[in-house]
Amino acid sequence: MKILVTGGCGFVGTNISLYLNSRGFKIQSLDNLSRKGSKYNLNLLKKNNIKNYKIDIYDYKKIKKLPKYDLIIDCCAEAAVEVSRKDIDKVINTNFIGTLNILKKIQKDNSKIIFLSTSRIFPISETNKVLKSKKIISKLPIKKLFSEKDIIEGPKTIYGLTKLSSEMLIEEFSYAFNLKYIINRCGVISGPLQFGKQDQGFLSLWVWKHINRDKMKYIGYGGNGHQLRDVLHIDDLCELIFIQIKKFNKIYNKLFTVGGSKRSYTSLVELTKICEKITKNKIKFSKISKTSIYDIPYYVTNNNLVTKTYNWRPKKNINKIVKDVFDWLTKNKKTLNKYF
Ligand SMILES: NC(=O)c1ccc[n+]([C@@H]2O[C@H](COP(=O)([O-])OP(=O)(O)OC[C@H]3O[C@@H](n4cnc5c(N)ncnc54)[C@H](O)[C@@H]3O)[C@@H](O)[C@H]2O)c1
Repeated sequence: MKILVTGGCGFVGTNISLYLNSRGFKIQSLDNLSRKGSKYNLNLLKKNNIKNYKIDIYDYKKIKKLPKYDLIIDCCAEAAVEVSRKDIDKVINTNFIGTLNILKKIQKDNSKIIFLSTSRIFPISETNKVLKSKKIISKLPIKKLFSEKDIIEGPKTIYGLTKLSSEMLIEEFSYAFNLKYIINRCGVISGPLQFGKQDQGFLSLWVWKHINRDKMKYIGYGGNGHQLRDVLHIDDLCELIFIQIKKFNKIYNKLFTVGGSKRSYTSLVELTKICEKITKNKIKFSKISKTSIYDIPYYVTNNNLVTKTYNWRPKKNINKIVKDVFDWLTKNKKTLNKYF
């Protein structure tokens, strides 16, 4: 089976490309290398004889000329929520028009799509409801789990909007042109090959800062680091996608919420403690009380449907994720310096 991975030099895309390549699929990548770190990941693809087309996903003329694929796994996005407030055109062109271009290519090839969506399609107001009790978030019992059935109406960030619109566009193409799809709405994902930033990929940034004994800031919600998220190990996501491909002929046109769930979650202060234990370094944190209008206090996934459908559940918890990121970063510290 021949597969194109868009965003194939990004964190998720590279991991998926290498995983599927090692299982005998013929993989190619499309990535314009705009993300810091993508050039590092490109070298890993090259070592494994995976070709990358350096094409902007906005450019349909070039996408149209690519070879025919049996499946496209769409992992290309401008994924930082704060960028989506500052550079709206870029985010809409990459995340929404990009999806349209991929769908046109799929229609032309009569192939199918697995789309990486996000938990940020849920409205900010719904996640804020968890705060109503006024208790410290990190001490709250994990009661609210977000599933496919939760409401999607309401402001969610422009990033979230482009991903939700892409989901809807995929469903429209499926209805109109009989195209087969799977959508995975993922919470936070982390693991090796992630080049973290404050507002995207925070876990790998946390570990990196601890290794280098750099200062950090807790931002928002009083600056206490109580925001809480579930985190999915990239290996668990790769395994799920492998199962989805194998079962695609029987299970398709489905949407799943996918995440670390109750099995793997952390608040920022708890993440700091885990990092201290694993790196054996303690660093200074300052507080910024002001909360970004785009931040959310809480997100944990309900995996019931995806577990029932594929008999899949995450195997690796938050400690294992931090340990694997730590091992990758320390082993390659010198080379990675310029990418963080
Ligand atoms: N990482 C997470 O925690 C997370 C969580 C939920 C959903 N997702 C989704 O998973 C997908 C992958 O995320 P990621 O963390 O790997 O992000 P990433 O930034 O590491 O990877 C995205 C890749 O796309 C490339 N790219 C960006 N704009 C492009 C353009 N215009 N044309 C061609 N290539 C372009 C970048 O160079 C980068 O290599 C995204 O769709 C994201 O929305 C990620």
